[in-house]
Amino acid sequence: MTVNVSDRGPVRLIEMNSPPVNALGAKLRMPLLDAIRAASRDDSAGALLLLSGLKTWCAGADIKEFGLSELPAPEASLNAICDALDTCSKPVIAVVDGVAYGGGLELALACDYRAVSARARFAFPEVNIGLLPGAGGTQRTPRLVGVERALRMCLDGKPVNAGQALEMGLADRLLEDGLTEAACAFAEEMLAAGAPVRKISSGPGKLPRPGEAAEVFDGARQLIARRMRGRDSPELIVQCIEQAVACRDDFRAGLAEERRRFVSCLKNPQSKALSHVFFAERAAARGAGGAAARAVERAAVIGCGTMGGGIAMNFAIAGIPVTVLETGEEALERGLSVIRGNFERSEKSGRIPPGGAERSMALITPTTDYGALDGADFAVEAVYENLDLKKRIFTRLDRALGSDAILASNTSYLDIDRMAEATGRPGQVLGMHFFSPANIMRLVEVIEGRHSSADTVATAFSLASRMKKVPVWSANSNGFIGNRMLSGYMFEAFELLFEGTPPESVDAALRDFGLPMGPFQMIDLVGLDLGWRARELAGKPLEERKPGERLGDALCERERFGQKNGRGIYNYSPGSRVPEPDPGVAGLIEELAEELGYKRGPPAGAEEIVKRCMYPLVNVGSALLEEGVARAASDIDIVYVYGYGFPAWRGGPMHYAEQQGLDGVLEDIRGFHDRFGARWTPAQRLVEAAAAGRGFGEG
Ligand code: CAA
Repeated sequence: MTVNVSDRGPVRLIEMNSPPVNALGAKLRMPLLDAIRAASRDDSAGALLLLSGLKTWCAGADIKEFGLSELPAPEASLNAICDALDTCSKPVIAVVDGVAYGGGLELALACDYRAVSARARFAFPEVNIGLLPGAGGTQRTPRLVGVERALRMCLDGKPVNAGQALEMGLADRLLEDGLTEAACAFAEEMLAAGAPVRKISSGPGKLPRPGEAAEVFDGARQLIARRMRGRDSPELIVQCIEQAVACRDDFRAGLAEERRRFVSCLKNPQSKALSHVFFAERAAARGAGGAAARAVERAAVIGCGTMGGGIAMNFAIAGIPVTVLETGEEALERGLSVIRGNFERSEKSGRIPPGGAERSMALITPTTDYGALDGADFAVEAVYENLDLKKRIFTRLDRALGSDAILASNTSYLDIDRMAEATGRPGQVLGMHFFSPANIMRLVEVIEGRHSSADTVATAFSLASRMKKVPVWSANSNGFIGNRMLSGYMFEAFELLFEGTPPESVDAALRDFGLPMGPFQMIDLVGLDLGWRARELAGKPLEERKPGERLGDALCERERFGQKNGRGIYNYSPGSRVPEPDPGVAGLIEELAEELGYKRGPPAGAEEIVKRCMYPLVNVGSALLEEGVARAASDIDIVYVYGYGFPAWRGGPMHYAEQQGLDGVLEDIRGFHDRFGARWTPAQRLVEAAAAGRGFGEG
């Protein structure tokens, strides 16, 4: 039974029970509506309690239903349930224990009272899937808590806890443990006091008069422009709440305005793309297979540079004590002070709770001695990319750590098997590739080597989840998923430059596409000198250097290292991150293009730039599927969304290609192949999927 109904004296208990999260799909909606209507008609029921039999109170609408071609019939919709609650003449109390999200919160708002446990959490996360609260949320919330808070909740999608809900008036009563008993006692107390029904819809509540909140709406729009560039549903959310104000004495009119905009969001490809990301993230996290993960109680990180420090922070944030090893005291001190600064900033910005910086620092033990690592059951090596050095470190870790310990490398492209073979425990070695800044970026590629055992892989997945990361499985192959794809993207961006398109045009086109920054801004941010020094150190012969590398060399020889010294591909005014084109660099590109034999032409337009830079991601992604390096196109999408800033509202490169139509994408790739040669050879997997007229997922 998805809904259980029982009576305690005059109190009717209606308990939702639709695992895993009480999503409001048809199988929960129908019996719920019946139970509410029956209780409304039944004279023996004096008050109604709406409860959940699960850990989650209600996760909102069933997102899977949104992919269906037909919307639910109005008589069986969530709006119909909210209507039934709204018109019930008896007090209805939502007894919220766990999360009430989206449509779940709307359900609670259609009740007269909200009694909560300390575990209650309220949020409108629909903005994260390209939607807006579509069952009265944009109309009832500002009436109950005011326009400013309603805008914040609907736009940031973040949860409000029980204490905050009580403080802002979203919840009425905190219930003690023994929730059902406490809720029944609350209902009886209300009945005894003759507590009235109290419909949020019955009046304007905290809604301002039209015009009074203009500044608040302006502020919301400025926030959208800053933080939600390219996304459509945030503006519609603001409009819905504006409509609540405009129709303040006519709840139904505001509701109709909300409905119209909700349906337009549902039809918008952005919501399809964002829902795809929601499910793809969860599917990726299941990539470990069925093996049991081992316990990780103590960790070690080798290297306390940018990556090592960030990884150590992740262990500490997850509450796992971690020993960090460096070669010398000075490097260790430098690394720790960066970690401390990062923790303090995180605490200030609210990313970690008050006192969290101190608590986390206390979990980090610095050392220069491998002997101090004994007792760690999981080690991550995060030194610079040099296979011989990494092999030596793995051999030392193998000697220093207990025989059960798992050893991981944070390499971004090197061969995990070679590192495994430098140890006596190759089955307990794998890759865990974090992305910079490692304490912020959510992606972790989990690299299964030839020898890695199933429980080693499962342990890395479980560890990543404890760190609140998104783990994605990859086979051991140069550059794994993300960096292999990135190299095609960067190569093409440089080709455009040498053919005559200025860097600012390439960057602008890709920013307009939705990336946080273009490829040349990114290189300037990372620093041109890193690659240059590595090439020089390795003595890479000139003829083996790619055209983009040659430009990097020339810029570095002129002391143009990037943002760090205010001069790279662009110039930067002191203290500014705004790129300013430099005519000298344009001249340098032209000279080099001539030397390398490029035929210069007019600058490419935005459409060509986007295709030239995005389709290598799709083509290489297809090859990765074909080779078994990635298991699913949706995994590739997750890598690009969470690791490389690909706009989530476009769903990731593979979803984007499917939405464009794979046959059209293939035709363009064939056109580029005719113009530019072998690097554009279409991947077989793409050819097959396009010919079959289906997406990658069904291959
Ligand atoms: N619809 C369908 N399935 C859902 C779902 C939803 N709203 N919410 C979660 N699920 C599924 C997940 O896909 C997952 O399925 P699998 O086990 O098959 O992967 C399962 O429920 C458990 O979810 P999580 O792994 O995420 O479990 P969790 O305990 O970590 O988190 C949660 C639970 C906090 C509810 C989280 O799943 C979540 O935030 N869900 C999304 C909630 C949401 O966006 N609600 C708004 C829906 S839109 C809406 O309601 C519009 C409206 O106004 C009408």
